Amino acid sequence: MVIFGIESSCDETAASIVKDGREVISSVIATQVARHVEFGGVVPEIAGRMHCEAISSVVRRTLDEAQMKIEEVDAIAVTAYPGLIGSLLVGVNFAKGMAMTSGKPLVPVHHLRGHIASNYISHHDLKPPFLCLVVSGGHSHIVEVKDYTDMRIIGRTRDDAAGEAFDKTARTMGLPYPGGIHMDKLAEQGNPDAFTFPVPKVSGSPYDFSFSGLKTAVINTIHNMQQKGIEVPTADMAASVRQSVVNILTDRFMLAARDTGYNKLVLAGGVSANSLLRRRMSEICAKNGCELYYPELKLCGDNAMMIAAQGYYEYLAGSTADLSLNARAERSIEI
Ligand code: KG4
Ligand code: ZN
Repeated sequence: MVIFGIESSCDETAASIVKDGREVISSVIATQVARHVEFGGVVPEIAGRMHCEAISSVVRRTLDEAQMKIEEVDAIAVTAYPGLIGSLLVGVNFAKGMAMTSGKPLVPVHHLRGHIASNYISHHDLKPPFLCLVVSGGHSHIVEVKDYTDMRIIGRTRDDAAGEAFDKTARTMGLPYPGGIHMDKLAEQGNPDAFTFPVPKVSGSPYDFSFSGLKTAVINTIHNMQQKGIEVPTADMAASVRQSVVNILTDRFMLAARDTGYNKLVLAGGVSANSLLRRRMSEICAKNGCELYYPELKLCGDNAMMIAAQGYYEYLAGSTADLSLNARAERSIEI
C-alpha cells in the first residue's frame, strides 16, 4: 500500500511517498530555517505564508521524483495536529484538495506519532510494543507504544520541551536558531563538568520532566559572568547544559523503563539527533541488556516520510477523515 504524506506543522514544508509504512519512494523537504534565523525563532505568520508558497511545488516534486501520479497512491496522509495552527491549516487544506480531486481517502496524522514512526523507516524489524522517549521542539513525552495506533503517556514535561530548553539556553549563549544542533556541535569541544546546574524533582510524578529551573540557572550564570566582565567559555557552557538535559531525560526514561518492564527502547523527535543522548542511551542500554532504536539523522527532524509511515498504520486501523477535517494546535498523542 502506497501513502502520500504531507507535513507542515512548524517550519518545514514536506511531502513524501512511502510504501507499506517502511519504504521511502520519494521525499522532499523545503525548510524555512534561513528565514526565521534572523528573528531567533519561528515567526508563526511568516511560517504559514511560506508553507502557502512552497506546498504546490513540494507536492509536485515529490510525485515527479517517484515518477508517479496521484491516482497511483492509496491514501493521502497529513499532519493535522499538534503544531502552529496557521502552518497546519496549509497542509491540511492542500491534502483535502488532493483527496477531493483524486477520490483517495484522507488520513489525519498526529505529528508526534509521526516522529515515532520515523523509526519504522530506519528499522524495518521494529514493531510495538516498546517504550519511546519523544523529544521535540514543542513536546517531551515518555510514551508507551502498545501498538501502532495505541499509545499511553507515562511522563511529560511540566514546562519547556527538551528542544525548547536547548533553544532558549543556546539563544542566551548567542548561538543561532535552532540552538539545539549548534549547542550539540559546540558541546563536543567543551568540558561537561565545568558548570553544575540543579537537578529538578517533580514531586509525585517520577517520570515527568522539568527544564525551567535549568534554563533559569543557565541564564543567571551567564548574566552574572557578563556583569563581572568574565568571558563565558561557550564550549564548556554548551557541554554542561547538554549534559544536564541529557541526564534529566535518560534518568526519567530509564526509571520508567525499569518500572514498566520494557526493554525495547526507542528515541524520536528532533532532539533524538543529539549526539550525547544517542551515545549515553547506547551505553546505558548495552549495560542493562535493553534494545535501543533511534532514527537516522535525516529522519529525526520534521519530514513527511514519517507522516506517510504513520499514515499507513492509521489507515489500516480505519482512521480516515472526511473533507470537514480541521487542524488543531493541540491534541494528545493518546487519541
Ligand atoms: O521534532 P522537531 O524537528 O520539531 C518539532 O516537532 O518541534 O524538533 C526540533 C527541535 C529544536 O528544538 C531543535 O533545536 C532540536 O529539535 N534539535 C536538537 C538537535 N537537533 C535538533 N537538539 C539537540 N541536539 C541536536 N542535535
Ligand atoms: Zn517535529
